[in-house]
Amino acid sequence: MKLPNQFYRPLAIGAPAPYREPPVKVERMIHFVPPHLEKFRAKVPDIAKQVDVVLGNLEDAIPADAKEAARAGFIEMAKAVDFGATGLWTRMNSLNSPWALDDMIEVVGAVGNKLDVVMLPKVEGPWDIAYLDQLLAQLEAKNGVARPIMIHAILETAEGVKNVDAIAAASPRMHGISLGPADLAASRAMKTTRVGGGHPEYKVIADSEGEAPRAAFQQDLWHYTIAKMVDACASAGIKAFYGPFGDFSDPAACEAQFRNAFLLGCAGAWSLHPTQIDIAKRVFSPDPKEVAFAKRVLEAMPDGTGAVMIDGRMQDDATWKQCKVVVDLAKQVAAKDADFAAIYGL
Ligand code: GLV
Ligand code: MG
Repeated sequence: MKLPNQFYRPLAIGAPAPYREPPVKVERMIHFVPPHLEKFRAKVPDIAKQVDVVLGNLEDAIPADAKEAARAGFIEMAKAVDFGATGLWTRMNSLNSPWALDDMIEVVGAVGNKLDVVMLPKVEGPWDIAYLDQLLAQLEAKNGVARPIMIHAILETAEGVKNVDAIAAASPRMHGISLGPADLAASRAMKTTRVGGGHPEYKVIADSEGEAPRAAFQQDLWHYTIAKMVDACASAGIKAFYGPFGDFSDPAACEAQFRNAFLLGCAGAWSLHPTQIDIAKRVFSPDPKEVAFAKRVLEAMPDGTGAVMIDGRMQDDATWKQCKVVVDLAKQVAAKDADFAAIYGL
């Protein structure tokens, strides 16, 4: 096992030192772009102004015969666009594919200094992170990359879920983890045909009372995995994300799924369609009423200790900490987004 004093050392001579603390950024939506298609690339300068992160997708949904074109298209758009404070990520192909190595060699070689995060799909255990960590350090050193490129893992295999604690803590290069419900459903032999969201047959029904129709309540297929992922991420000091929601015709279900993830501790979700950008913005920016209440609690307990009653509800050190989470996030969102600064009065 690597000794603790080796943990923050650069893994290649000349590579930048890993972050001690990950940069604090608002990342409510990771917006997916298919970079092999000129029509979508052309929209990136505008999209980059609306979203927190633009991600050029090289993996699933890119046809095998367009993998090289997607890589070249991503490099072209990364060079051409000024992303400002908007994050620039790529989703590379999985480590067991024929494209993964060239994805990293070419992308880091060409635009390593603009790339914030590499999303690594189908992560099974900390060994996958260790491999990419080492490779990125070699490529950073070779190409004179000044800032460490971070790794974001997708949790989308049964083995990955089993190993999620070790994945989250595998390297100081870890940025966060996203749920990948489509691949995970297949890996687990779940009997669904969807990308995220619920299923009408996954439910509990009320007890039978004579002839009366029995109430049925749909349950959340993803509750267990999201909670497990959030604990792994929070304990490692990194961020958890809901991944994709594939039914673009059902914005209400998308919003409900994103909100469950937000309430459980996630920082953001993927947007695969422009209509999902505003949903993610609304959901992953804290509710103005909650922010107003949380501010009152912080003001009523300036040093964060003791107990007070506010609107009939008991507040103490623990609720103060919850309120601080909400207000800190609201301040980060307000610093980035003038509309929310006005709404929050921050
Ligand atoms: C995402 O990659 C998923 O498989 O859901
Ligand atoms: Mg997947």
